[in-house]
Amino acid sequence: MLKKYSLLWFPRNMYPRAGETVVVTAAAGATGSHVGQIAKIKGCKVIGIAGSDEKGKWLVDELGFDHFIDYKTADVDKALTDVAPEGVDCYFDNVGGEISSTILRHMNHFGRISICGAISGYNEDEVQASTVQWSAIANELKMEGFVVTRWIDRWNEGIQQNIKWIKEGKLKYKETVTEGFENVFTAFIDMLKGRNIGKAIVKV
Ligand SMILES: NC(=O)c1ccc[n+]([C@@H]2O[C@H](COP(=O)([O-])OP(=O)(O)OC[C@H]3O[C@@H](n4cnc5c(N)ncnc54)[C@H](OP(=O)(O)O)[C@@H]3O)[C@@H](O)[C@H]2O)c1
Repeated sequence: MLKKYSLLWFPRNMYPRAGETVVVTAAAGATGSHVGQIAKIKGCKVIGIAGSDEKGKWLVDELGFDHFIDYKTADVDKALTDVAPEGVDCYFDNVGGEISSTILRHMNHFGRISICGAISGYNEDEVQASTVQWSAIANELKMEGFVVTRWIDRWNEGIQQNIKWIKEGKLKYKETVTEGFENVFTAFIDMLKGRNIGKAIVKV
């Protein structure tokens, strides 16, 4: 039965693995309390974030969560650093907003985020509520960050392919060249202000 539920709550490829650190928001709610317990069953370290000491006591003393953070009284950023210095591998997001932005800053490399809800924004007007969570939930999106060096072993292959496309006229490029080292600062500010087209280059 629990296995079935774990498939229900954790989207595919998001399952928490034994030994990982999992954070869940609205942790004492219907969804959060269930999710946190499944993560414990899977052998994870689980940190629940909720809005009262009474809820925290239930999570830790009865449900077996490892830690609890009261987001109404604690500095979530500092508290997370204290209880999860190793970083967060999986975040189950029920609330969105500021708390989620803070938790995201604690994520480990290749961490996974299940965006379930964004309750912190449900009373906001349309503009404020248009956070990333809304679109992700409604359209069931998957997002993945990357750092270009992940493909460092294919660097030369990339350069060769681009050269080929340029020679074939399929790929075009532009450069905005500033002459003189003494103009580095101006060139940099110009780039930040969007005055360059294509790559901004300083020729010294
Ligand atoms: N994607 C889906 O298919 C799906 C399905 C069901 C539910 N959901 C979503 O999952 C989330 C949990 O739903 P649920 O039905 O299980 O409700 P719930 O967690 O039982 O109740 C909501 C809890 O959210 C917390 N909360 C309210 N305002 C908050 C805020 N501004 N910041 C942080 N926490 C706040 C409150 O607890 P505190 O005391 O901790 O503030 C409240 O008890 C909701 O966002 C819901 O919309 C999504």
